Amino acid sequence: MLTKTLIGVVIATVLVVAIAITFPVLVTHKPAVEKKVMQKIEVGERIKLPVPDYMSNTSVEEALSKRRSIRTYSGEGLSIDEVSQLLWAAQGITGKGRTAPSAGALYPLELYMVVGDVEGLDKGVYKYRPVEHELEKVVDGDKREELAEAAGGQECVKEAAIDIVFTAIYERTTWKYGDRGIRYVYMEAGHAAQNVYLQAVSLELGTVVIGAFIGDRVKELVNAEEQEVPLYIMPVGRQG
Ligand SMILES: Cc1cc2nc3c(=O)[nH]c(=O)nc-3n(C[C@H](O)[C@H](O)[C@H](O)COP(=O)(O)O)c2cc1C
Repeated sequence: MLTKTLIGVVIATVLVVAIAITFPVLVTHKPAVEKKVMQKIEVGERIKLPVPDYMSNTSVEEALSKRRSIRTYSGEGLSIDEVSQLLWAAQGITGKGRTAPSAGALYPLELYMVVGDVEGLDKGVYKYRPVEHELEKVVDGDKREELAEAAGGQECVKEAAIDIVFTAIYERTTWKYGDRGIRYVYMEAGHAAQNVYLQAVSLELGTVVIGAFIGDRVKELVNAEEQEVPLYIMPVGRQG
């Protein structure tokens, strides 16, 4: 009887010691949640975007049938892969051309991304460089609120994780097509924006085109060149 009790005590002690030793290990060896370190990017610095996916499980038909303007978002951030995919959808390089058609292949559109919450990217405004598939930081700090004010206080612009700002340089097209080139540029902004809508469906994100804003203020906020004219803002966020 005494032997059994002693064996019981020894087993219990061994178990307690084993748990005491193992517990901190368990705590410190929890599977690491993958979180990319927020890197400070200086104005003028460029970063490479991840290579976009060229395949997905969403058909064009499904994306078309689900496309809707979405103005409320969950407040969660986006990943760098998602923003890479959205920018590529708007103006990315595909073989000798781009994802959207362009009159005379003259490419009058420029894209800026106003970043509020993107994993691994600090807040600021970034210019998309399609040829290199890179981002160039052009402005420091969170500009979403000021951008929303420039858009008549439209909340979705402030609440989105990012806002994509489309600008155009008309002269790239009008030197060849004259005044008719202006309408071509508007059409191209429509093509590019629709690509973003459809890509957003495929990524289960929400977006909307915003055409109501004070152009000069938007231009100032993204630090656009003198000849650039802002045409659209597309806030993007996770669907709320
Ligand atoms: C040229 C243009 C400008 C628009 N501007 C705004 C805008 O400033 N704010 C907004 O909330 N929606 C804007 N929209 C989105 C429309 O309100 C939306 O497309 C329309 O209500 C139809 O809804 P759907 O996109 O879900 O089909 C704009 C759409 C277009 C085509």
